Amino acid sequence: MTTRRLVLSRSAALVGAASSGLLLPQIARAQSSKIRVGLMLPYTGTFAQLGVAIENGFRMALDEQGGKLGGREIEFFKVDDESNPAKGVENASTLVQRDKVDVLVGTVHSGVQMGIQKVARDSGVLSLIPNAGAHAATRALCAPNVFRTSFTNAQPTLALGKPMMDKGLKKTVWITWKYAAGDEAFEGFRDGYTKAGGTIVKELSLPFPNVEFQALLTEIASLKPDAVACFFAGGGAAKFIRDYAAAGLKGKIPLYGSGFLTEGVLEAAGPAADGIVTTLHYSDSLDTPRNRAFRLAYAKHFKVQPDVYAVQGYDTGLLLAQGVAAVKGDIGNKPALYKALETTTIDSPRGKWKMSPQHNPVQDIYLRVVENKENKVVGVAAKALADPGTGCRMAG
Ligand code: PHB
Repeated sequence: MTTRRLVLSRSAALVGAASSGLLLPQIARAQSSKIRVGLMLPYTGTFAQLGVAIENGFRMALDEQGGKLGGREIEFFKVDDESNPAKGVENASTLVQRDKVDVLVGTVHSGVQMGIQKVARDSGVLSLIPNAGAHAATRALCAPNVFRTSFTNAQPTLALGKPMMDKGLKKTVWITWKYAAGDEAFEGFRDGYTKAGGTIVKELSLPFPNVEFQALLTEIASLKPDAVACFFAGGGAAKFIRDYAAAGLKGKIPLYGSGFLTEGVLEAAGPAADGIVTTLHYSDSLDTPRNRAFRLAYAKHFKVQPDVYAVQGYDTGLLLAQGVAAVKGDIGNKPALYKALETTTIDSPRGKWKMSPQHNPVQDIYLRVVENKENKVVGVAAKALADPGTGCRMAG
């Protein structure tokens, strides 16, 4: 009832404005008002650093556009989602209902993303995913207003098995956190590795964000596989790398992973990380003018080295800037805005990329090895890899 009255009185005001010749100035005012950007990211917990890197990269891209979007000033609203799936819907609703954001940027954790996805689908608010790889977001639950600038969880690991088999590593133990991102990273690994002829001898897991690895490392030692492959990220990844070495496994059983394992953690992990081989859509050492310029500018500004999360945040800023520029600041012009987001090319530090029809990056996956606190690119493990987008029916 309240909503209906509100709508009626608003349209009545518009009719009044139109008949008194005030409609144009009103619309012009709406256009010149600030664009409201909601950042829903983890600022505490094991993914805290990831949230900060995403925000840094995002702001850097917007600063490069003069700090405006389509000529309009930007107002930021922030929520710490704590990587807590139980609060996902509530936190996203706060940004949409209370803060009335025009665009919601978030998040890192796949479980929390499912809360954002629900709110995005219910409200129709533009949702840009700067990390979380939850398959459903660009598969069965895809939506016209949801765009991802990062990856699907299976994308990096799909390309991991082949280089392992090329090294003769035929029996592997898989280990991860038990939640959507770990399960889906496993799907990619299993498909690529078994197709290349490998055997997964055991799947090990622990609940997110638990970091008590000792018992599992002891089990790995007794299983004696040819290799270990894993998905971990953030603070937990740094600890896993250190514990793996401390358990005496480094140098005995080679460690492979989804590339997040060695992102943003190389200072914290130290020499224990040397020699870890991973696959990911970015590598520090990509020798392109674009990547070199980005790394220099980021390090100068934030006094830390950028990682894949910084790149994803940066690309999210580029995507938003290019989309809003295409509609000249009229972010309410959804068909034109979505079309622009669907067709634009992102000139990313990772290499140029575009959206798949389901709104996920089509991108190269690099094979990397850690050397002296850097992810060195060894080769391209998969060229222009697209997620299949299975089950996506884009309505409207
Ligand atoms: C996820 O939960 O989707 C996730 C989290 C951290 C990563 C990658 C994926 O580094």
